[in-house]
Amino acid sequence: MAEFPEVLNIAMVGHGFIAAVHSNAIHQVRRFFPTRFGLRTQVVCGRDRASLQAMADRWGWQETAVDWQTVIEREDIHVVDIATPNILHAPIAIAAAKAGKIVWCEKPLATTLTEAADMAEATKNVPTLVWFNYRRIPAVVLAKQMIEQERLGEIFHYRALYLNQSGVDPAKATGWRYRLSEAGSGASGDLLSHCLEMALYLNGEIEEVCASSKTFIKNRDVDDAVMLMARFSNGSIGTFEATRFGVGFRNSLSFQIHGSKGMLQFDLEDMNSLRFYDATETPGVQGTKKLMVPGPDDPYARNFWKPGHPIGFEHTFIATLGDFLSALQTDTTFHHIPFRDLPPS
Ligand SMILES: NC(=O)c1ccc[n+]([C@@H]2O[C@H](COP(=O)([O-])OP(=O)(O)OC[C@H]3O[C@@H](n4cnc5c(N)ncnc54)[C@H](O)[C@@H]3O)[C@@H](O)[C@H]2O)c1
Repeated sequence: MAEFPEVLNIAMVGHGFIAAVHSNAIHQVRRFFPTRFGLRTQVVCGRDRASLQAMADRWGWQETAVDWQTVIEREDIHVVDIATPNILHAPIAIAAAKAGKIVWCEKPLATTLTEAADMAEATKNVPTLVWFNYRRIPAVVLAKQMIEQERLGEIFHYRALYLNQSGVDPAKATGWRYRLSEAGSGASGDLLSHCLEMALYLNGEIEEVCASSKTFIKNRDVDDAVMLMARFSNGSIGTFEATRFGVGFRNSLSFQIHGSKGMLQFDLEDMNSLRFYDATETPGVQGTKKLMVPGPDDPYARNFWKPGHPIGFEHTFIATLGDFLSALQTDTTFHHIPFRDLPPS
Protein backbone atom coordinates (compact mmCIF):
# COMPACT_ATOMS: atom_id res chain seq x y z
CA MET A 1 0.00 0.00 0.00
CA ALA A 2 1.11 3.56 -0.70
CA GLU A 3 2.42 5.84 2.04
CA PHE A 4 -0.07 8.45 3.17
CA PRO A 5 0.75 11.86 4.68
CA GLU A 6 0.24 12.74 8.33
CA VAL A 7 -2.75 14.93 7.47
CA LEU A 8 -5.33 13.32 5.22
CA ASN A 9 -7.42 15.76 3.20
CA ILE A 10 -10.92 14.41 2.68
CA ALA A 11 -13.37 15.03 -0.15
CA MET A 12 -16.88 13.87 0.67
CA VAL A 13 -19.48 13.39 -2.06
CA GLY A 14 -23.05 13.89 -0.84
CA HIS A 15 -24.29 16.28 1.81
CA GLY A 16 -27.46 14.70 3.17
CA PHE A 17 -28.25 12.73 6.32
CA ILE A 18 -25.32 10.33 6.42
CA ALA A 19 -22.84 12.96 5.25
CA ALA A 20 -23.51 14.83 8.51
CA VAL A 21 -22.93 11.63 10.49
CA HIS A 22 -19.62 11.09 8.67
CA SER A 23 -18.59 14.72 9.23
CA ASN A 24 -19.21 14.31 12.95
CA ALA A 25 -17.14 11.09 13.05
CA ILE A 26 -14.27 12.74 11.18
CA HIS A 27 -14.20 15.62 13.67
CA GLN A 28 -14.54 13.38 16.74
CA VAL A 29 -12.39 10.37 15.94
CA ARG A 30 -9.02 11.58 17.19
CA ARG A 31 -10.49 12.50 20.57
CA PHE A 32 -11.49 8.87 21.17
CA PHE A 33 -9.01 6.94 19.00
CA PRO A 34 -5.54 8.47 19.17
CA THR A 35 -3.85 8.13 15.79
CA ARG A 36 -0.91 9.73 14.05
CA PHE A 37 -3.16 10.78 11.18
CA GLY A 38 -4.77 14.17 11.18
CA LEU A 39 -7.99 14.52 9.18
CA ARG A 40 -9.00 17.66 7.32
CA THR A 41 -12.59 18.15 6.10
CA GLN A 42 -11.44 19.77 2.86
CA VAL A 43 -14.18 19.64 0.19
CA VAL A 44 -17.82 18.64 0.29
CA CYS A 45 -19.37 17.89 -3.12
CA GLY A 46 -22.99 17.90 -4.23
CA ARG A 47 -25.32 19.45 -6.75
CA ASP A 48 -27.00 22.36 -5.04
CA ARG A 49 -24.65 25.24 -4.10
CA ALA A 50 -26.86 26.82 -1.44
CA SER A 51 -27.46 23.66 0.57
CA LEU A 52 -23.82 22.64 0.07
CA GLN A 53 -22.67 25.89 1.67
CA ALA A 54 -25.06 25.43 4.59
CA MET A 55 -23.61 21.94 5.11
CA ALA A 56 -20.05 23.25 4.90
CA ASP A 57 -20.77 26.01 7.43
CA ARG A 58 -22.47 23.72 9.90
CA TRP A 59 -20.04 20.80 9.70
CA GLY A 60 -16.78 22.62 9.10
CA TRP A 61 -15.89 21.84 5.47
CA GLN A 62 -13.32 24.22 3.94
CA GLU A 63 -14.65 24.21 0.37
CA THR A 64 -17.69 23.19 -1.65
CA ALA A 65 -17.79 21.83 -5.20
CA VAL A 66 -20.47 20.72 -7.67
CA ASP A 67 -18.14 18.59 -9.80
CA TRP A 68 -16.85 15.56 -7.87
CA GLN A 69 -14.93 14.31 -10.95
CA THR A 70 -12.57 17.29 -10.84
CA VAL A 71 -12.17 17.13 -7.07
CA ILE A 72 -11.19 13.46 -7.20
CA GLU A 73 -8.33 14.29 -9.57
CA ARG A 74 -6.84 16.87 -7.18
CA GLU A 75 -3.41 15.94 -5.83
CA ASP A 76 -4.08 17.45 -2.42
CA ILE A 77 -7.03 15.07 -1.81
CA HIS A 78 -6.13 11.78 -0.12
CA VAL A 79 -9.51 10.31 0.86
CA VAL A 80 -12.80 10.16 -1.06
CA ASP A 81 -15.83 9.51 1.16
CA ILE A 82 -18.99 8.44 -0.69
CA ALA A 83 -22.28 9.46 0.95
CA THR A 84 -24.54 9.54 -2.10
CA PRO A 85 -27.47 7.51 -3.41
CA ASN A 86 -26.40 3.92 -4.11
CA ILE A 87 -26.22 4.15 -7.89
CA LEU A 88 -23.30 6.60 -7.63
CA HIS A 89 -21.18 4.43 -5.31
CA ALA A 90 -19.49 2.46 -8.11
CA PRO A 91 -18.55 5.30 -10.50
CA ILE A 92 -17.20 7.49 -7.69
CA ALA A 93 -15.30 4.65 -5.99
CA ILE A 94 -13.73 3.43 -9.23
CA ALA A 95 -12.67 6.94 -10.27
CA ALA A 96 -11.25 7.62 -6.79
CA ALA A 97 -9.29 4.35 -6.74
CA LYS A 98 -7.86 5.08 -10.20
CA ALA A 99 -6.63 8.41 -8.81
CA GLY A 100 -4.92 6.51 -5.95
CA LYS A 101 -7.21 7.74 -3.15
CA ILE A 102 -8.29 5.97 0.01
CA VAL A 103 -11.98 5.16 -0.56
CA TRP A 104 -14.72 5.09 2.08
CA CYS A 105 -18.15 4.11 0.80
CA GLU A 106 -21.61 3.85 2.30
CA LYS A 107 -23.62 0.66 2.20
CA PRO A 108 -24.94 -1.06 0.17
CA LEU A 109 -21.55 -1.12 -1.52
CA ALA A 110 -23.05 -1.60 -5.00
CA THR A 111 -26.34 -2.12 -6.76
CA THR A 112 -25.30 -5.33 -8.57
CA LEU A 113 -22.76 -8.10 -8.05
CA THR A 114 -20.90 -7.08 -11.21
CA GLU A 115 -20.58 -3.52 -9.93
CA ALA A 116 -19.28 -4.80 -6.57
CA ALA A 117 -16.70 -7.01 -8.30
CA ASP A 118 -15.55 -4.07 -10.46
CA MET A 119 -15.22 -1.91 -7.35
CA ALA A 120 -13.24 -4.59 -5.48
CA GLU A 121 -10.94 -5.01 -8.49
CA ALA A 122 -10.42 -1.27 -9.01
CA THR A 123 -9.60 -0.66 -5.33
CA LYS A 124 -7.29 -3.62 -4.75
CA ASN A 125 -4.25 -1.33 -4.25
CA VAL A 126 -5.88 1.34 -2.08
CA PRO A 127 -7.25 1.12 1.47
CA THR A 128 -11.05 0.86 1.54
CA LEU A 129 -13.84 0.96 4.06
CA VAL A 130 -17.56 0.17 3.81
CA TRP A 131 -19.53 2.03 6.47
CA PHE A 132 -21.15 -1.03 8.03
CA ASN A 133 -21.21 0.81 11.34
CA TYR A 134 -23.46 -1.54 13.32
CA ARG A 135 -20.61 -4.01 13.65
CA ARG A 136 -19.07 -1.54 16.12
CA ILE A 137 -21.95 -1.52 18.60
CA PRO A 138 -20.45 -2.71 21.91
CA ALA A 139 -23.35 -5.13 22.50
CA VAL A 140 -22.72 -6.69 19.06
CA VAL A 141 -19.00 -6.95 19.78
CA LEU A 142 -19.82 -8.59 23.12
CA ALA A 143 -22.08 -11.08 21.31
CA LYS A 144 -19.18 -11.90 18.98
CA GLN A 145 -16.84 -12.45 21.95
CA MET A 146 -19.37 -14.70 23.71
CA ILE A 147 -19.84 -16.79 20.56
CA GLU A 148 -16.06 -17.14 20.20
CA GLN A 149 -15.84 -18.18 23.85
CA GLU A 150 -18.45 -20.86 22.99
CA ARG A 151 -20.97 -19.53 25.49
CA LEU A 152 -23.68 -20.54 23.01
CA GLY A 153 -22.16 -23.94 22.15
CA GLU A 154 -23.25 -25.29 18.79
CA ILE A 155 -25.33 -22.71 16.91
CA PHE A 156 -28.68 -23.93 15.56
CA HIS A 157 -30.62 -20.82 14.56
CA TYR A 158 -29.71 -17.29 13.45
CA ARG A 159 -32.75 -15.04 13.17
CA ALA A 160 -32.58 -11.41 12.06
CA LEU A 161 -35.11 -8.65 11.46
CA TYR A 162 -34.84 -5.09 10.23
CA LEU A 163 -38.14 -3.30 10.69
CA ASN A 164 -39.05 0.28 10.00
CA GLN A 165 -42.23 1.95 8.76
CA SER A 166 -40.69 4.39 6.29
CA GLY A 167 -42.41 3.09 3.14
CA VAL A 168 -46.04 2.87 4.19
CA ASP A 169 -47.20 6.36 3.21
CA PRO A 170 -46.58 6.90 -0.55
CA ALA A 171 -47.01 10.67 -0.12
CA LYS A 172 -44.00 10.76 2.26
CA ALA A 173 -41.93 7.97 0.73
CA THR A 174 -40.87 9.88 -2.38
CA GLY A 175 -37.06 10.22 -2.34
CA TRP A 176 -34.33 8.40 -4.27
CA ARG A 177 -34.67 5.36 -1.98
CA TYR A 178 -37.95 4.54 -3.75
CA ARG A 179 -36.55 4.69 -7.30
CA LEU A 180 -34.76 1.71 -8.83
CA SER A 181 -32.72 4.01 -11.07
CA GLU A 182 -31.06 5.65 -8.04
CA ALA A 183 -31.27 3.06 -5.26
CA GLY A 184 -30.80 -0.17 -7.23
CA SER A 185 -33.14 -1.95 -4.78
CA GLY A 186 -35.48 -1.22 -1.88
CA ALA A 187 -35.53 -2.82 1.57
CA SER A 188 -33.04 -5.46 0.46
CA GLY A 189 -30.12 -3.11 -0.24
CA ASP A 190 -31.11 -0.56 2.37
CA LEU A 191 -31.98 -2.80 5.35
CA LEU A 192 -31.28 -6.46 4.64
CA SER A 193 -27.65 -5.60 3.79
CA HIS A 194 -27.12 -4.60 7.46
CA CYS A 195 -28.66 -7.89 8.70
CA LEU A 196 -26.54 -10.01 6.37
CA GLU A 197 -23.33 -8.15 7.19
CA MET A 198 -23.95 -8.65 10.90
CA ALA A 199 -24.75 -12.34 10.38
CA LEU A 200 -21.50 -12.87 8.47
CA TYR A 201 -19.63 -11.22 11.35
CA LEU A 202 -21.36 -13.18 14.11
CA ASN A 203 -22.16 -16.52 12.54
CA GLY A 204 -19.73 -16.93 9.63
CA GLU A 205 -20.10 -17.77 5.99
CA ILE A 206 -23.42 -18.39 4.28
CA GLU A 207 -23.53 -21.26 1.79
CA GLU A 208 -27.03 -21.15 0.38
CA VAL A 209 -29.93 -18.69 0.30
CA CYS A 210 -33.41 -18.42 -1.10
CA ALA A 211 -35.47 -15.27 -0.89
CA SER A 212 -38.76 -13.66 -1.73
CA SER A 213 -39.64 -9.97 -1.97
CA LYS A 214 -42.82 -7.93 -2.11
CA THR A 215 -43.74 -4.43 -3.28
CA PHE A 216 -46.93 -3.27 -1.59
CA ILE A 217 -47.35 0.08 -3.34
CA LYS A 218 -48.58 0.04 -6.92
CA ASN A 219 -46.13 1.55 -9.45
CA ARG A 220 -43.22 1.54 -6.99
CA ASP A 221 -40.29 -0.23 -8.69
CA VAL A 222 -38.24 -1.30 -5.63
CA ASP A 223 -38.98 -3.99 -3.03
CA ASP A 224 -40.79 -2.87 0.13
CA ALA A 225 -40.08 -6.08 2.04
CA VAL A 226 -37.84 -9.08 1.66
CA MET A 227 -37.61 -12.47 3.38
CA LEU A 228 -34.62 -14.76 3.10
CA MET A 229 -33.68 -18.21 4.34
CA ALA A 230 -30.03 -19.23 4.65
CA ARG A 231 -27.78 -22.18 5.43
CA PHE A 232 -24.53 -21.30 7.20
CA SER A 233 -21.22 -23.17 6.90
CA ASN A 234 -21.29 -23.92 10.63
CA GLY A 235 -24.41 -26.06 10.15
CA SER A 236 -26.91 -23.53 11.48
CA ILE A 237 -29.88 -22.17 9.57
CA GLY A 238 -31.01 -18.56 9.34
CA THR A 239 -34.11 -16.54 8.62
CA PHE A 240 -34.04 -12.85 7.72
CA GLU A 241 -36.80 -10.32 7.23
CA ALA A 242 -36.33 -6.68 6.25
CA THR A 243 -39.24 -4.35 5.65
CA ARG A 244 -40.22 -0.71 5.30
CA PHE A 245 -43.73 -1.79 6.31
CA GLY A 246 -42.86 -2.83 9.87
CA VAL A 247 -45.54 -0.57 11.33
CA GLY A 248 -44.78 0.07 15.00
CA PHE A 249 -41.00 0.23 14.60
CA ARG A 250 -38.76 3.15 13.61
CA ASN A 251 -35.39 1.43 13.44
CA SER A 252 -35.46 -2.08 14.85
CA LEU A 253 -32.46 -4.08 13.68
CA SER A 254 -32.46 -7.22 15.77
CA PHE A 255 -31.08 -10.72 15.99
CA GLN A 256 -31.61 -13.86 18.05
CA ILE A 257 -29.06 -16.64 18.07
CA HIS A 258 -29.93 -20.00 19.58
CA GLY A 259 -27.23 -22.54 20.46
CA SER A 260 -26.91 -25.73 22.50
CA LYS A 261 -25.72 -23.76 25.55
CA GLY A 262 -27.75 -20.58 25.34
CA MET A 263 -29.35 -17.72 23.45
CA LEU A 264 -28.37 -14.13 22.60
CA GLN A 265 -30.79 -11.39 21.62
CA PHE A 266 -30.16 -7.81 20.49
CA ASP A 267 -32.26 -4.90 19.23
CA LEU A 268 -30.87 -1.59 17.92
CA GLU A 269 -33.81 0.23 19.55
CA ASP A 270 -32.25 -0.84 22.88
CA MET A 271 -28.62 -0.72 21.73
CA ASN A 272 -26.90 -0.49 25.11
CA SER A 273 -28.01 -3.94 26.17
CA LEU A 274 -27.65 -7.57 25.15
CA ARG A 275 -29.93 -10.33 26.38
CA PHE A 276 -28.38 -13.67 27.30
CA TYR A 277 -29.99 -16.95 28.31
CA ASP A 278 -27.45 -19.34 29.82
CA ALA A 279 -28.78 -22.89 29.41
CA THR A 280 -25.88 -24.30 31.47
CA GLU A 281 -27.10 -22.64 34.66
CA THR A 282 -28.96 -24.62 37.33
CA PRO A 283 -32.49 -25.05 35.89
CA GLY A 284 -34.16 -23.35 38.86
CA VAL A 285 -32.33 -20.07 38.21
CA GLN A 286 -32.32 -20.11 34.43
CA GLY A 287 -33.80 -17.06 32.72
CA THR A 288 -32.92 -14.37 30.20
CA LYS A 289 -30.57 -11.73 31.66
CA LYS A 290 -30.25 -8.20 30.35
CA LEU A 291 -26.56 -7.31 30.18
CA MET A 292 -25.84 -3.58 30.28
CA VAL A 293 -23.25 -2.73 27.63
CA PRO A 294 -20.70 -1.09 27.44
CA GLY A 295 -19.39 -3.08 30.40
CA PRO A 296 -15.88 -3.22 31.88
CA ASP A 297 -14.56 -5.69 29.28
CA ASP A 298 -15.96 -3.88 26.28
CA PRO A 299 -13.29 -3.40 23.59
CA TYR A 300 -14.30 0.26 23.21
CA ALA A 301 -14.49 0.91 26.99
CA ARG A 302 -11.13 2.67 26.87
CA ASN A 303 -12.18 4.79 23.87
CA PHE A 304 -15.56 6.13 24.94
CA TRP A 305 -17.07 6.82 28.36
CA LYS A 306 -16.67 4.82 31.56
CA PRO A 307 -18.46 1.43 31.54
CA GLY A 308 -22.16 1.80 32.23
CA HIS A 309 -22.56 5.08 30.37
CA PRO A 310 -24.69 4.64 27.26
CA ILE A 311 -23.45 5.40 23.78
CA GLY A 312 -25.39 6.07 20.57
CA PHE A 313 -25.62 5.83 16.78
CA GLU A 314 -22.82 8.34 16.16
CA HIS A 315 -20.30 6.35 18.22
CA THR A 316 -20.58 3.41 15.84
CA PHE A 317 -19.28 5.61 13.01
CA ILE A 318 -16.51 7.08 15.17
CA ALA A 319 -15.40 3.57 16.15
CA THR A 320 -15.50 2.38 12.52
CA LEU A 321 -13.23 5.24 11.50
CA GLY A 322 -11.00 4.77 14.56
CA ASP A 323 -10.41 1.12 13.71
CA PHE A 324 -9.77 2.00 10.06
CA LEU A 325 -7.13 4.60 10.97
CA SER A 326 -5.49 2.26 13.43
CA ALA A 327 -5.19 -0.40 10.68
CA LEU A 328 -3.82 2.23 8.27
CA GLN A 329 -1.25 3.35 10.82
CA THR A 330 0.00 -0.18 11.54
CA ASP A 331 -0.36 -1.26 7.90
CA THR A 332 -2.54 -4.19 8.95
CA THR A 333 -5.61 -5.51 7.22
CA PHE A 334 -8.78 -3.68 8.11
CA HIS A 335 -11.30 -6.44 8.76
CA HIS A 336 -14.45 -4.45 9.36
CA ILE A 337 -14.83 -4.25 6.42
CA PRO A 338 -12.98 -3.47 3.20
CA PHE A 339 -14.52 -3.65 -0.31
CA ARG A 340 -12.85 -7.01 -0.89
CA ASP A 341 -13.99 -9.09 2.06
CA LEU A 342 -13.45 -12.55 0.67
CA PRO A 343 -13.27 -15.66 2.84
CA PRO A 344 -9.79 -17.23 3.08
CA SER A 345 -9.20 -19.65 0.19
N1 LIG B 1 -24.74 3.14 7.53
C1 LIG B 1 -25.94 3.61 7.81
O1 LIG B 1 -26.46 3.38 8.90
C2 LIG B 1 -26.68 4.47 6.80
C3 LIG B 1 -27.77 5.24 7.19
C4 LIG B 1 -28.38 6.07 6.22
C5 LIG B 1 -27.92 6.09 4.91
N2 LIG B 1 -26.88 5.27 4.55
C6 LIG B 1 -26.39 5.27 3.15
O2 LIG B 1 -25.86 6.55 2.85
C7 LIG B 1 -26.08 6.88 1.49
C8 LIG B 1 -26.78 8.25 1.41
O3 LIG B 1 -27.98 8.19 2.16
P1 LIG B 1 -28.59 9.51 2.88
O4 LIG B 1 -29.59 9.04 3.88
O5 LIG B 1 -27.49 10.38 3.35
O6 LIG B 1 -29.34 10.19 1.64
P2 LIG B 1 -29.72 11.72 1.48
O7 LIG B 1 -30.82 11.75 0.47
O8 LIG B 1 -29.96 12.36 2.81
O9 LIG B 1 -28.40 12.38 0.86
C9 LIG B 1 -27.91 12.02 -0.42
C10 LIG B 1 -26.95 13.09 -0.88
O10 LIG B 1 -26.39 12.74 -2.16
C11 LIG B 1 -26.38 13.91 -2.96
N3 LIG B 1 -26.38 13.58 -4.40
C12 LIG B 1 -27.35 12.98 -5.10
N4 LIG B 1 -26.99 12.89 -6.40
C13 LIG B 1 -25.74 13.45 -6.50
C14 LIG B 1 -24.84 13.67 -7.58
N5 LIG B 1 -25.15 13.31 -8.82
N6 LIG B 1 -23.65 14.25 -7.31
C15 LIG B 1 -23.32 14.62 -6.05
N7 LIG B 1 -24.15 14.45 -4.99
C16 LIG B 1 -25.34 13.88 -5.22
C17 LIG B 1 -27.64 14.65 -2.55
O11 LIG B 1 -27.56 16.02 -2.89
C18 LIG B 1 -27.60 14.45 -1.04
O12 LIG B 1 -26.77 15.40 -0.43
C19 LIG B 1 -26.91 5.73 0.90
O13 LIG B 1 -26.07 4.85 0.20
C20 LIG B 1 -27.48 5.04 2.14
O14 LIG B 1 -27.70 3.64 1.94
C21 LIG B 1 -26.25 4.50 5.48
